Amino acid sequence: MKICVVGSGYVGLVTGACLADFGMTVTGVDKDADKIAALERGEIPIYEPGLEEIVEKNVRAGRLSFTTELAPAIREARAVFIAVGTPPLPDGRADLSFVRQVAEAIGDNLNDYKVVITKSTVPVGTGQMVERVVRERSGGSQEFAVVSNPEFLREGSALEDFYRPDRVVIGARTQRAVDVMLEIYAPLKAAGVPFVIANVESSEMIKYASNGFLATKISFINEVAELCEAVGADVEVVARGMGLDNRIGPKFLHPGPGFGGSCFPKDTRAVAQIAEEHGLRFAIIDAVLDANERVKQRMVPKIAGAFDGLEGRTVAVLGLAFKGDTDDMRESPAIPIVEGLVAAGARVRAFDPAAIEQARPLLPEAVTYCYDAYDAARGADGVVIATEWNQFRALELERLRQLLTRPLIVDLRNLYEPERVAAAGFHYVSVGRSQATPAVGGERA
Ligand code: UGA
Repeated sequence: MKICVVGSGYVGLVTGACLADFGMTVTGVDKDADKIAALERGEIPIYEPGLEEIVEKNVRAGRLSFTTELAPAIREARAVFIAVGTPPLPDGRADLSFVRQVAEAIGDNLNDYKVVITKSTVPVGTGQMVERVVRERSGGSQEFAVVSNPEFLREGSALEDFYRPDRVVIGARTQRAVDVMLEIYAPLKAAGVPFVIANVESSEMIKYASNGFLATKISFINEVAELCEAVGADVEVVARGMGLDNRIGPKFLHPGPGFGGSCFPKDTRAVAQIAEEHGLRFAIIDAVLDANERVKQRMVPKIAGAFDGLEGRTVAVLGLAFKGDTDDMRESPAIPIVEGLVAAGARVRAFDPAAIEQARPLLPEAVTYCYDAYDAARGADGVVIATEWNQFRALELERLRQLLTRPLIVDLRNLYEPERVAAAGFHYVSVGRSQATPAVGGERA
């Protein structure tokens, strides 16, 4: 089947490459000519483990190509995926102008039956808007169907999430459209992945409700962590004790400096906005947004406490991206942390395995960028771990201690066992673990 994926950003690129890998003939379209030229040279504009190989393999096999020419790509395709950006407007709503433009182009080029699939995260009701626009522009000359097929990919593990999703959600009005989608996702169906077939509105809602719930889980454990510090409990043990209840589950119960990225902050604000537009108040989501702001604000005072003041101190910050395995800096909690440290008079020596170039324009000019964790630690008065990169889980503690003027680690991601770091001679401050857990009964998560 011929497929056109409009938008070669994160979602579009991963979707296009993986569908080509399923045997589809995929054309990736983007209006950014530089990006398309780079993709044609085999250069991937985003950091995503494994993506480059899969793009290269499918381009070589002739199943994946890239173009800036939207009209011919639409005309050739049976299925058109809309994977363009929906950036937040100043009031928190998603800006749908790119989605609308693609819908117009599809209407203008509707030469036979096509399935138009919204893959971007779009407010409930967008499917109807796309349907209206395509119908108006095509003058009702051809049949088409609009499908909502939200993506649940996580940056850093997008390929794994594509090939082994927990579920595939398809929102459609006709069986004919569902059948086209089942053909596209046949390898996943064969692998036993559950499919949820819904109407378009329910499908759109599943995406927002899922991200809203996951963000709630994170904010919940962040608030539990704060409480743990106050009462002398250990949040890692508490999370494990909670997570073993199947109804709760162990995932997304890792406390930290707050959630960031291009999805949770934007989508939670959008859910609140959608509720408001319908005269409702989604009180839990409001609380999640509030809790996430407060957890971010707690971090600099926490670091200041550990460093015994920040004026004149040198702080090694490990990790700038919003999470590990990505170069994405969007709404990274490291941004307010570094800004706060610099504003309080600290010098910052920062290292991130992938995000330094993206970080530079977003962080204060005074920041010194380093080539690895040890370089960052050289001459610093302590280390702050801000991102859960795997390589920060296995630092050579002895080497680190020798490079620092003071043996201090502030671990905002709880990557280490407090006892182990203490045994290596460090003063160790983490999240939600004010006291070392006693050896007896102290099984750790
Ligand atoms: C998230 C969802 O997990 C995906 O299912 C969804 O497809 C995607 O948004 C989207 O809507 O496009 P992503 O933003 O890539 O994916 O990253 P996550 O791994 O979910 O992490 C989001 C943030 O929460 C990060 O800042 C991370 O550090 C933080 N987090 C996550 C925690 O602080 N604790 C946790 O237990 C989990």
